[in-house]
Amino acid sequence: MRIRQHVNPLDLFFEKFRGVKPLIDLSRELEVEVGCADAQFLFERAHQNPSAQYVGLEIREDLVEYVNKKAKVQSLPVTAVWCHAQLHVKDILPAGCAARVYVNFPDPWFKRRHHVRRMVDPVLAEQIAHLLAPGGELFVQTDVWDIALDAMSAFDGDDRFENRASEWTFWKDGNPYGVRSWREQNAEETGLPIWRIWYTRR
Ligand SMILES: C[S@@+](CC[C@H](N)C(=O)[O-])C[C@H]1O[C@@H](n2cnc3c(N)ncnc32)[C@H](O)[C@@H]1O
Repeated sequence: MRIRQHVNPLDLFFEKFRGVKPLIDLSRELEVEVGCADAQFLFERAHQNPSAQYVGLEIREDLVEYVNKKAKVQSLPVTAVWCHAQLHVKDILPAGCAARVYVNFPDPWFKRRHHVRRMVDPVLAEQIAHLLAPGGELFVQTDVWDIALDAMSAFDGDDRFENRASEWTFWKDGNPYGVRSWREQNAEETGLPIWRIWYTRR
């Protein structure tokens, strides 16, 4: 299928939530990936533990359709939601519902002139703080140095997140979850550096 490469998150079209809210069972663990694309990471998590539930937030509608069809065919508890993560998380999921949130390789808008389009900023930190249960985990990874710094500034600068490696420090022991996102696999196979940060919700 044809997938749009980019959409402009500043487009006024995205101000309103137009997606479908997922059905969440609050008695089961929930994991959320922000900017899930094809949701490879969540599908692999679902294979590891099909008793939990997995929600991917994605701004590209065609990817949302792809993920939801694949989940149905494979009978896996993965749901993608079409949304603008910085604007709509609070409309989509209740407070404190997630055990883990992943921000894997957030957005391709890393050029300086696209700074205002970046996905990871204090606005997203606010949404993730809303989502995570106390003690919940936030894992961020990127191969773009400027985005790693943005993420560290947004989350280390927010008292609600405790950096597991110690303040303002990258996580150096690799990805602890035993699955990889598509971009992560690609970065590892092409030898790109990956910066990771791991937090606990206070
Ligand atoms: C570089 S891709 C990484 C995809 C996947 N996480 C991975 O690691 O393979 C970033 C994804 O974030 C999505 N994205 C960018 N801005 C977003 C936003 N504001 N809300 C939701 N998704 C967004 C993009 O459409 C894209 O699919």
